[in-house]
Amino acid sequence: MIDIPGDKSVSHRALILGGMASGTSRIKGLLAGEDVLSTLGTMQALGVQITTESETGDVIVDGVGTGGFICPDAPLDLGNAGTGVRLLMGAVAGQPVSAEFTGDASLSVRPMHRITDPLIKMGAQISYLPEKAEKGYLPVTVTGAQPVIAINYSTAVASAQIKSAIMLAALNARGQTVITEPHISRDHTESMLRHFGIEVEQTFLPDGKHQVTLAGGKPLIAKDIVVPRDPSSAAFAIIAALITPDSDIRLPAISLNPQRTGLLTTLLEMGADITITNERIEGGEKVGDLSVRSSQLSAIEVPAERAASMIDEYPILAIAAATARGTTHMTGIAELRVKETDRIAKTAQGLAACGVEIAETHDSLSVTGSAEIAGGAMINSSHDHRIAMSFLVLGMVSKTAITVTDIETIATSFPGFAKLMNDAGAKMNTKSEN
Ligand code: S3P
Repeated sequence: MIDIPGDKSVSHRALILGGMASGTSRIKGLLAGEDVLSTLGTMQALGVQITTESETGDVIVDGVGTGGFICPDAPLDLGNAGTGVRLLMGAVAGQPVSAEFTGDASLSVRPMHRITDPLIKMGAQISYLPEKAEKGYLPVTVTGAQPVIAINYSTAVASAQIKSAIMLAALNARGQTVITEPHISRDHTESMLRHFGIEVEQTFLPDGKHQVTLAGGKPLIAKDIVVPRDPSSAAFAIIAALITPDSDIRLPAISLNPQRTGLLTTLLEMGADITITNERIEGGEKVGDLSVRSSQLSAIEVPAERAASMIDEYPILAIAAATARGTTHMTGIAELRVKETDRIAKTAQGLAACGVEIAETHDSLSVTGSAEIAGGAMINSSHDHRIAMSFLVLGMVSKTAITVTDIETIATSFPGFAKLMNDAGAKMNTKSEN
């Protein structure tokens, strides 16, 4: 039995929406990862009281309402947290406050125009440093719109971060905000806003686009939240078990939100021995218990339309593909180039260094599997937790050990990763518990 930690996406949203609600919310199972702690510290700096109950570990958030933020005394440092910084920029843009956002080396070279462009349309004032303005890199100062203008906005990419930033700003807008994305991205913000009493309409258009409609000016009513276990973290244990001979593991209460199950669909198509039992709703999200046994995987074509539902899982899928029969093609994945690192390039370089045959284009990656992985490479994660964990998993089956440096970053999403994997039979030699 492997206890995967709480979902990162839901944890960020629980703290932000809890902080913007009227009343006190109790969060059960909040991920204690560094990214989420960055969001927690930022919410405190914006005037929200948050405490951890020592007997239960539950996190208690005393909401200040949708307009109750205070101006923070110092810049808000979100560390490595892309979701944290982007959602919070939206939340601040809808309130009469001003805040400067900063981050670590990786977050400071990730594009923010995709967030600030719609926020400017909503009336927020945005200022970048002159030398960073063209690329739209942090630091950025956001001054809330007064009044907040309701907009009708179409995004070029299906991104839950863009959609959520707009929705959070729109909570204080006069009138209806409509957001259209090319297809549905994870909809945790929509579900949690409904949980807090806000009417959010989701419509699927005939051309496959997804549209969200939200009326501003209504209060969020504090609610308790149960955070499901993170399917993106479970992915590492699932693939470790599939590719390591004689494995048989169980993972209880993993989120089965339909916008997060692309990897499970893909692995089942590849012939993975995974069974899902005890499907149920916990805290408004579908969850289930997974049983995973070693399997000989076969290569498939992973369709581009599936990308949004498994966007964070491609690096670890590429590891599985390296052991599969045939060549796995992953297409429509250009978004991976603007994650914590350029994940297409990082995955391709790392696999090639371990002796795996790969081919990449701007928006695709192909991996040819083989019965034996040479390994022996030194991989620097470059502040990318998912790259670090992916290559540690590959090291479990490589002929010569793989060394991963900069593994501290794993604590952003999966604190205790190496210990949990070692307790389940892996042999990862690390100096820290990550
Ligand atoms: C997230 C959305 C995804 C994902 C990220 C978490 C979220 O980003 O990659 O790790 O919680 O909203 P995009 O929505 O920008 O693709």
